[in-house]
Amino acid sequence: MNTSTKKKSAARFLKRTLAAGAVALAAVSLQPAGANAAPAPVVGGTRAAQGEFPFMVRLSMGCGGALYTQQIVLTAAHCVGASGNNTSITATAGVVDLNSSSAIKVKSTKVLRAPGYNGSGKDWALIKLAQPINLPTLKIAETTAYNNGTFTVAGWGATREGGSQQRYLMKATVPFVSDADCQAAYSGDIIPSEEICAGRLNVGGVDTCQGDSGGPMFRRDNAGAWIQVGIVSWGIGCARPDYPGVYTEVSTFAAAIKSAAAGM
Ligand code: ARG
Repeated sequence: MNTSTKKKSAARFLKRTLAAGAVALAAVSLQPAGANAAPAPVVGGTRAAQGEFPFMVRLSMGCGGALYTQQIVLTAAHCVGASGNNTSITATAGVVDLNSSSAIKVKSTKVLRAPGYNGSGKDWALIKLAQPINLPTLKIAETTAYNNGTFTVAGWGATREGGSQQRYLMKATVPFVSDADCQAAYSGDIIPSEEICAGRLNVGGVDTCQGDSGGPMFRRDNAGAWIQVGIVSWGIGCARPDYPGVYTEVSTFAAAIKSAAAGM
């Protein structure tokens, strides 16, 4: 089997696994632990300051998310089960330290998984909370205007391939990777209209990782406000030089997200 065949089947295998849903964390076992020693912290990051990203949410199934409204969390489809009433998820917000006594914890009431989600693309979902959380929300990109530049990612996921989930919120910045470069890296497994890639191509060392899924990738808009352009979705390994992180392209789904949220 040549290298590109290997890459392709690996990517498909990973996507299928993600489709299995529950399970953000299941993907961890796919990674050869320690196969790639990327620098610590998300991979290659640093600790976020309390209040720096007030819209960040940790979800109890082991994913991230962002407050789209004070009562609706935007996350990844592969982090949730089917759409419907669902009181099994706890959202933790308001803290960088998940063990903090000031953590705000709210249960879910409903899940709305992207219509047509089948494990490939369309990796977004909404979770309705039992009560609103009085924290700033993160607006989503409604056009492609901000699908470029340098992005911030944050999460409580692994700080290296096969690593453990984190108690403290980590952050990092990653540059945009073009559809062409990403498609080449993943041997054609990217859905360019639905996915946006980011990472230090040919360098690696900085990336999201298992447990960051569902969390936002964001940047400043022209007015200086944070705007969400991506949702952590998948990648082969974490922070590997030849494999950028793959994110749901939020602008593609902004209208669908908006109307779905309005209907919850
Ligand atoms: N699918 C992973 C999760 O469920 C996120 C993986 C992101 N990987 C990457 N190399 N950026 O947490």
